[in-house]
Amino acid sequence: MRIEWKTDYSVGIKKFDTQHKRLFEMLNDLHKGVVKRRDRETMEEVLAGLIDYTCTHFGSEELAMQEYAYPDYEEHLAEHKKLMASVNGYVDDMKSGKDLRALDLGGFLFNWLTDHIARTDKRMCAFLKAEGSPS
Ligand SMILES: [Fe+2]
Repeated sequence: MRIEWKTDYSVGIKKFDTQHKRLFEMLNDLHKGVVKRRDRETMEEVLAGLIDYTCTHFGSEELAMQEYAYPDYEEHLAEHKKLMASVNGYVDDMKSGKDLRALDLGGFLFNWLTDHIARTDKRMCAFLKAEGSPS
């Protein structure tokens, strides 16, 4: 099933919405690859791209939080770190030969992302905007 970004997911800062939309697209690519049973090498590339962009995106949020001295920075950072640790665990599972379908990384990431956007990113962006960040 294809997932779509919707306005409910908007955090009110365009740059982050754009990055979130790209993550949604990358999750769709991951899902498509799993459904079409693409070979392991291709899937490792898709996953590496997703991990790479996730790091870029997290870095961009973390920089903004530092710039505006966000009081809940540590807590937000911890969520990012925890996610990366989970994803790395999936990568290890995949490399040890487990079936990607059964792992359902796409489902896990979709749930994580929508929950993180709704609770953590929205709260952060409300603060950033109140402190003068462009929307
Ligand atoms: Fe975040």
